[in-house]
Amino acid sequence: TGYVTLDSGYKNTGATKSAITFLDGEEGILRYRGYPIEQLAEKSSFLEVAYLLIYGTLPTKAELDEFSLQITKHTLVHEDVRKIFDGFPSAAHPMGILSSLICSLTAFYPKSIDPDQSAEEINLNILRLMAKISTIAAWTYKNSQGHPLNYPRNDLDYTSNFLYMMFSFPTEKYEINPVVVSALNKLLILHADHEQNCSTSTVRLVGSANASLYGSVSAGINALWGPLHGGANQEVVEMLEAIQRDGGDTSKFIAKAKDKNDSFRLMGFGHRVYKNFDPRAKIIKKAADEVLSALGINDPLLKIAQELEQAALTDPYFVERKLYPNVDFYSGIIYKAIGIPTEMFTVMFALGRLPGWIAQWKEMRENKEPIGRPRQIYTGELERDYVSIENR
Ligand code: CMC
Repeated sequence: TGYVTLDSGYKNTGATKSAITFLDGEEGILRYRGYPIEQLAEKSSFLEVAYLLIYGTLPTKAELDEFSLQITKHTLVHEDVRKIFDGFPSAAHPMGILSSLICSLTAFYPKSIDPDQSAEEINLNILRLMAKISTIAAWTYKNSQGHPLNYPRNDLDYTSNFLYMMFSFPTEKYEINPVVVSALNKLLILHADHEQNCSTSTVRLVGSANASLYGSVSAGINALWGPLHGGANQEVVEMLEAIQRDGGDTSKFIAKAKDKNDSFRLMGFGHRVYKNFDPRAKIIKKAADEVLSALGINDPLLKIAQELEQAALTDPYFVERKLYPNVDFYSGIIYKAIGIPTEMFTVMFALGRLPGWIAQWKEMRENKEPIGRPRQIYTGELERDYVSIENR
């Protein structure tokens, strides 16, 4: 009954009201709670931005200290989580491990599945999730290498602690480089929210059934893993490496991307909403230059990326379709420069996007939104009689 309009891929359907992130795709504007992304990326810290997204205001010094302290207090994960790692083959993609282990937190905190939790209990689960994801994320990498896992260090800030857990060895002291910390901080901020993208809509849709925060975020991680979404950052660097192996001729790959008989797309290009430029890509492009020169790295992939961008921006195919570099185009080059391995890129995106998922899940619950339940236009057989198997 009723009239159903079709909007495949939700290109034009607002599924919710939200007061978290403002995005204007024509003008290339992105603001978290009203604050321009450019200012936050320049001046803020990742935890400050997380607080802003989740609670709606920039924290006072005391609020930020308390938030950071609470997160630091929860970074340890249950020892039995280590045993789950033992069951994964070392070749497992870290995104699959991450989503499984985030969902496994429901087992360690059974109250988290109770839809009638108090606001305090929900907040405790938010703090746990913010804290434990960095430990679990770093452990997915250590596990893939067959290296000993590092326990979190409470004397370090969020970003430094993550880098320490990723790169420290019992046999070798890891020096925390402020250039690397600052680059990672910026990347995490730029990924922190992006209104109703695929993974965030997944988190809201799953959460709308009163599913737990951990279960909803685990579903979001799986959505983010897709190569058309967060998985694109890994694909970009793999594409640039393929171009390099092929002799560096970008025009060949541009031609492939334009060929409608070829499924290849220029990874890190195009966006559903941004039709002029992606403001995050602008900041990341500049940061890539700065970080590489501060670290004294001369990565030939950066040159290939710049050439590819230049060629695409002047090619009528890309111009007509308003295809510009997106957030994923240059981020991988920075991740690579700061030592993050390619298969961990999407995990880094998840780490950054977590406060956004949490904020959106919380907002949806607080606004008591109804269960999400899209309709369809049915195109199958109308009605037919069952035919017994010997007569088919
Ligand atoms: N390379 C070549 N052609 C492209 C590309 C690309 N990267 N992106 C879009 N097109 C073409 C597409 O073939 C279509 O052409 P035509 O009109 O002739 O059929 C036209 O541009 C419109 O594309 P669309 O697929 O209808 O656009 P969409 O809004 O459904 O998809 C997108 C957006 C981001 C999935 C797409 O641009 C894409 O696949 N980009 C590459 C993957 C990527 O970089 N993803 C990261 C997105 S940003 C961060 C994130 O979400 O995680």
